[in-house]
Amino acid sequence: MQIIRSIRSMQAAARKIAGSGKTIGLVPTMGYLHRGHQSLIVRAAKLADVVIASVFVNPSQFGPGEDFKTYPRDEKGDIARIAEALGKKKARTAIVFAPKAIDIYPDDFETWVTVEKLSQTLEGKARPGHFRGVTTIVAKLFNITRPDVVVFGLKDYQQAMVLSRMTRDLGYPIKFVIAPTVREKDGLAMSSRNAYLDDLGRWEATCLYYSLRTAREMVRSGVADTRVLLREMKAVIKATCPSANVDYIAFTDFKTLKPVKTVTTGTICSLAVRVHGVRLIDNLKLA
Ligand code: PAF
Repeated sequence: MQIIRSIRSMQAAARKIAGSGKTIGLVPTMGYLHRGHQSLIVRAAKLADVVIASVFVNPSQFGPGEDFKTYPRDEKGDIARIAEALGKKKARTAIVFAPKAIDIYPDDFETWVTVEKLSQTLEGKARPGHFRGVTTIVAKLFNITRPDVVVFGLKDYQQAMVLSRMTRDLGYPIKFVIAPTVREKDGLAMSSRNAYLDDLGRWEATCLYYSLRTAREMVRSGVADTRVLLREMKAVIKATCPSANVDYIAFTDFKTLKPVKTVTTGTICSLAVRVHGVRLIDNLKLA
């Protein structure tokens, strides 16, 4: 596996791969990889000849007071987990692109990419400026690595929708793949931020999935009114994690992200909850 840090070297490597007639599958990450990321890497390896995994904790998507400085980092472990996911043969040709922040954002950097409406709701509302940082770094990664295929996880559902729209709107010739959320045995969605939780927090963090599952079961048994679902989800969260702070619970159309009052086919529920001070997100399609 090759580790590339400079933008020019990455561009040259991408040109060489394309020149040899091979396809590139990109998996953008912020590192501290877990089985969720590994599943994206495996998917990329199935869809393309060469896998590029970027590892870059992107400062511009963190707001003031958020966890940019403390975000967990483990480059050695990341490389091992990429190799493990790919197996010997695919790992040999794979590339880890781990640029320096100063190269991505030179001091006089002033060009941003924004997906206007989809970025305003849910996570975008709770974390102003977050998606501007995400879309800008991902556009840069697309320009630098020239992928044929890109794989993102459904766990960051709104991010996937925003980036898919950006890919279409800017005319990138990239196949955009969204892979399912990978969960721990008890249902907790895998996330690098789970590492912040202590034992009790880890257990109580199941409140997100339990509440989503409750909503899905209620929908299956005929309840479609989101006010009823919301009430029950809040009760499940309170019972599982009494100190939890619900940031939002939203029922929206899967594609448009527009809020819905009644669950119909394509309704997704997303939520953000602070568990022992750790902000976690999750989502589930309800019908
Ligand atoms: O999902 C993430 O880890 C990040 O938001 C991404 C897409 C790698 C951009 O920094």
